[in-house]
Amino acid sequence: MRLVVILLVLPFVVGSQDCDHRDFNNGATVCVCTADYCDTIDPVEKQPEGSYVLYTSNKRGHRLTKTTGNFGKASGKALTINRLKTYQEIIGFGGAFTDAVGVNLMGLNEKAREHLLRSYFSEDGIEYNMVRVPIGGTDFSTYGYSYLDQDPTFSAENYTLSKEDFELKLPLIKAAERMSNKKLDFLASAWISPKEWKTNNDYAGSGFLKQEYYQAWVDYCLRFLDLYKEQGVEFWGITTGNELSLVLAPFNRIPTVGFTPKNHTKWVRDNLGPTIKNSSYADLKVIALDDQRFLLPILEKQLEDQEFKKYLDGVGIHWYWDMIVPIKWVANFHEKHPDLFLLGTEACRGTFIFEDAVKLGSWDRAEDYATDIIDDLENWLGGWMDWNVALDLTGGPTYINNNVDSPIIVNATNGEFFKQPMFYIMGHFSKFLPKQSIRFDIDKHENLKVIAFQRPDNGTTIVVLNKSNNYVEAFRIYDEDRGEILMDISPRSISTILYW
Ligand SMILES: *[C@@H]1O[C@H](CO)[C@@H](O)[C@H](O)[C@H]1NC(C)=O
Ligand SMILES: *[C@@H]1O[C@H](CO)[C@@H](O)[C@H](O)[C@H]1NC(C)=O
Ligand SMILES: *[C@@H]1O[C@H](CO)[C@@H](O)[C@H](O)[C@H]1NC(C)=O
Ligand SMILES: *[C@@H]1O[C@H](CO)[C@@H](O)[C@H](O)[C@H]1NC(C)=O
Ligand SMILES: *[C@@H]1O[C@H](CO)[C@@H](O)[C@H](O)[C@H]1NC(C)=O
Ligand SMILES: *[C@@H]1O[C@H](CO)[C@@H](O)[C@H](O)[C@H]1NC(C)=O
Repeated sequence: MRLVVILLVLPFVVGSQDCDHRDFNNGATVCVCTADYCDTIDPVEKQPEGSYVLYTSNKRGHRLTKTTGNFGKASGKALTINRLKTYQEIIGFGGAFTDAVGVNLMGLNEKAREHLLRSYFSEDGIEYNMVRVPIGGTDFSTYGYSYLDQDPTFSAENYTLSKEDFELKLPLIKAAERMSNKKLDFLASAWISPKEWKTNNDYAGSGFLKQEYYQAWVDYCLRFLDLYKEQGVEFWGITTGNELSLVLAPFNRIPTVGFTPKNHTKWVRDNLGPTIKNSSYADLKVIALDDQRFLLPILEKQLEDQEFKKYLDGVGIHWYWDMIVPIKWVANFHEKHPDLFLLGTEACRGTFIFEDAVKLGSWDRAEDYATDIIDDLENWLGGWMDWNVALDLTGGPTYINNNVDSPIIVNATNGEFFKQPMFYIMGHFSKFLPKQSIRFDIDKHENLKVIAFQRPDNGTTIVVLNKSNNYVEAFRIYDEDRGEILMDISPRSISTILYW
């Protein structure tokens, strides 16, 4: 409150606006935003040679706080970077615009909504460059639907978009594009067909796509791309279906078009692939899996079919079982298929029945994000996408009560939203690692996670995560072209260092 008053008195204040902290007793604070106030982050500015800039967040209360420092002389005790040993290229970071996101954002007034979207997409926010857009409804909708529910002929060529597209998705996509100073990459995820196309005549449950609709399902997905294009939104990529493996879960409630792996291979090889390549979408990135890490070995089996593989550009990985599936599985996959890019396409916390869906201000959940992102980036993933970019206080709406957490939680009844630690953690990567940044080698540290990149503007970005409770002496990084960075790293913190 105090800060708001100061800003009203001093309208010419420059620089970022601080977090308006609120503590819900979950370990750390959220930053509260309203129509009148929202914290901002200092834009990235090229530093003069010899100095670096440091953005820090920690459990105690820093939220992408900016400081600067100067390089010093080498001490011989530093982690050394090696620019010559390079790895993968960054594709991007982002989150999904589901119907639930739209319901929450449209529940806010225009100014508050603008603050929320600016927080994600603008230069004074965390500068996401990717948005995942489900094709039609998902479990994060207010009811189950397909685009053909009103059409008894099921003509995939002739459907129109839903009111959800016009009211809850397209306006937000357009606004995000206006606020961003980069080109946003939109990723469509094939989601749910008409019930009648599935063997169990239901959106959820254990139903497979009927053979006679294999081509119709492709036409349905491409029609979605056409209709969005008519509205001015062009897609960068498409996934071959969200979490197809759900079809094997006995009580699956999430809408899913099921395939066996073998039949999915056939569908991509004989229907989806050739249709896309022979359409105006020939350059669209086709991304397989869009499902859990533990399924990579099954995908490897599918990839033995070269006719299947030739239509693929990359593989989308969801994080939900990462705690029990070693990251080595990803590295092994990359070794066998280095020509397919890897991308995290969905993640969120609060999915287990023994935990709260939403835990306002949790630092543990933020650290889970950071740990998984760094593990993934150290093992060839080109980026990482969150699930819903905003949900309500219950972690919804979701018509099947699949409530989960989100980096931004909206309390529409009083026009507020809360930026959680997870939001700032995403920012430590998304804001400073533009598309086409390249990872390079840096020495390992026994207590910290450290990862380094060269940006397309030749800047260097280094991210350091401290989860450790052990004492570690002053932290040092050495770059032979610049000298040594000597800095303090606070407990339970994440730091992003940038220099040119
Ligand atoms: C779809 O629309 C086209 C053009 O309006 C029309 O010629 C065609 O008959 C329609 N198809 C179906 C199955 O309704
Ligand atoms: C898979 O495809 C075969 C034909 O190739 C078909 O007989 C079988 O029913 C399909 N299985 C499922 C579960 O769709
Ligand atoms: C591509 O589409 C054209 C018509 O649009 C058709 O004549 C041709 O056979 C198609 N090619 C393939 C490989 O499907
Ligand atoms: C959400 O807003 C309502 C209405 O103003 C208020 O009573 C409630 O305490 C708020 N909830 C949180 C978690 O801030
Ligand atoms: C980055 O460095 C390379 C090699 O030193 C140079 O050719 C290129 O122009 C630089 N790019 C930018 C954006 O400064
Ligand atoms: C990381 O945090 C711990 C406290 O949890 C602190 O003792 C340690 O010094 C920090 N690490 C570094 C490298 O500063």
